[in-house]
Amino acid sequence: MNVLFIGDIVGRAGRRAVRNFLPDLIDELSLDLVLANGENSAGGFGITAKVADELYAYGIDCLTMGNHTWDNNDIFNFIDQEKNLIRPLNYVAGTPGRGWTLIELNNVKVGVINLIGQVYMAGHNVPYQVYKNHLPEISAKADIIIIDFHAEATGEKMAFANAVDGEVAAVVGTHTHVQTADERILPGGTAYITDLGLTGAIDSILGMDKEKIVERHISQLPNRYEVATGEVKLEGLFLNINENTGSIDNLQRINKTN
Ligand SMILES: [Fe+2]
Ligand SMILES: [Fe+2]
Repeated sequence: MNVLFIGDIVGRAGRRAVRNFLPDLIDELSLDLVLANGENSAGGFGITAKVADELYAYGIDCLTMGNHTWDNNDIFNFIDQEKNLIRPLNYVAGTPGRGWTLIELNNVKVGVINLIGQVYMAGHNVPYQVYKNHLPEISAKADIIIIDFHAEATGEKMAFANAVDGEVAAVVGTHTHVQTADERILPGGTAYITDLGLTGAIDSILGMDKEKIVERHISQLPNRYEVATGEVKLEGLFLNINENTGSIDNLQRINKTN
């Protein structure tokens, strides 16, 4: 089974990157499943129903979120009806939406889980504990499990991945918008990368207009960030997963530009 997990899609530029590059990637890599982090896909902040539909139309099967889940109010209108848009599972009880979903392909069921870290991101339940509580239910239904661990700190992502090594097919990090070159298969067999990277404008700071951000860091005054424009890239991780055993036969970092 061939899976592509795309790093944080930032705004219009990010969506353009998906439109430009994903159809070819689906062919070249014979993709069966495309997952993506969509927390910044609407104007850099959150997601809307229209944007989610646009991304599904480009070939994305499932969208994960993160600390920007609630930035655009439109999400409250549709998240409870969306089977394949998931927000962090370790949000407090009663939070709208769902934290994991089951995607049924031809003869394999893939469980996708979204979790959020705690370093610089307060107010959530301990991700490992929440994962552990849900694991019996998810592993009873899913043949293969893939986790988007949305977090700032590299060490927190690595600690989580090592804690679940051998229990899931893959743990991919999102949130930093900077792709790391540490993709590997952990000793227990779980595929891991600290961060999938950015899908958006190349000449930017994390996908946003760089001048505004530089100005803010120098002046220490608040200003409005805008999505950057220009040449775009799509970053992520390709996984070839043996659907019978759940083991990783191949993994490859993806960085697609014009
Ligand atoms: Fe992000
Ligand atoms: Fe984030």
